[in-house]
Amino acid sequence: MNSEPHVAIVGATGAVGREMLICLAERDFPLSKLTLLASARSAGQSLPFRGEEIVIQELTEDSFKDIDIALFSAGGGISEKFGPIAAEAGCVVIDNSSAFRMDPQVPLVVPEINPEAARNHPRNIIANPNCSTIITLMGLAPLHRAFGLKGLIASTYQAVSGSGAQGIVELENQTKALVSGSPIEKNVYPHQIAHNVIPHVDVFQDSGYTKEEQKMLHEGRKILDLPDLKVTCTCVRVPVMRSHSISVTAIFEKDPTVAEAQAVFSDAKGVDLRDNPSEGLYPVPLDTIGQDNCLVGRIRKDQVIPNALALWVVGDQVRKGAALNAVQIAEIL
Ligand code: A2P
Repeated sequence: MNSEPHVAIVGATGAVGREMLICLAERDFPLSKLTLLASARSAGQSLPFRGEEIVIQELTEDSFKDIDIALFSAGGGISEKFGPIAAEAGCVVIDNSSAFRMDPQVPLVVPEINPEAARNHPRNIIANPNCSTIITLMGLAPLHRAFGLKGLIASTYQAVSGSGAQGIVELENQTKALVSGSPIEKNVYPHQIAHNVIPHVDVFQDSGYTKEEQKMLHEGRKILDLPDLKVTCTCVRVPVMRSHSISVTAIFEKDPTVAEAQAVFSDAKGVDLRDNPSEGLYPVPLDTIGQDNCLVGRIRKDQVIPNALALWVVGDQVRKGAALNAVQIAEIL
């Protein structure tokens, strides 16, 4: 791509689509034109970008004729249908859904970890990984480079905004109902999420794990190019509005000290060390909202498994877990 690209956002009105607009503007992304696409419900409305109002258009099969890069975040069904149509039209698709992530012809990219993979995209599609996987690997990749990752045991603490706008509304409504003593309505989650935690994200499979939990395994192997990586994961929805946290035990080839592990973050890109618990310094979700960088802390020796460290990683899943990661991939192109 020689001149500045014509970029489209598919799902521009969604939580991630809106964050993509913010990331493109903040990063001064070089583009000749920005097209905003959503459903017929939003067509004709507009969203501000760089001081102008851009009118939203309805997504159709003809939407991609002169688009160079399309950032998709309108759900898996839309990606499955319109991703290949856009790619056929010559547009490079950067897709936020899980539709193409495990296709061997589709690179799965976290720009701080495997940027070179983005350059080889034979189907004209590049996949953005799962949000919890991105944030976990942002904390683990610098340690992997230094000490050789063999396996991980992770528990996620996932914010309701990971379920889209409807998750936020459910937590808000249930919290208000609790305060006013009104009946609690459940529309999104199988249990009340206010004042609760739910060990159930995405659908259960025969293995007893959920699909979300298995994404950490399969996507982690692909991104890190570690086909034998061992992963056990428990994904939990928590009554937090935004930003996911992950408690990880990471098992390495080498046996790092805590100081050696902390030192690798001094020049790691996209992740900052916040690790002085005696001063109350450790990552919390509220400190990462709207931030590009993930935070890592609570690094300590695992007391059960040899060559292992326990740590805590937090990141804004709407931003680094979705919108920013996609825009960073577009920057590589
Ligand atoms: P719309 O606002 O017009 O419904 P979220 O996951 O935050 O709810 O966002 C979903 C995004 O996907 C929104 O931008 C939504 O647009 C878009 N979307 C949903 N269904 C369609 C569709 N059939 N065609 C195009 N965009 C769609």
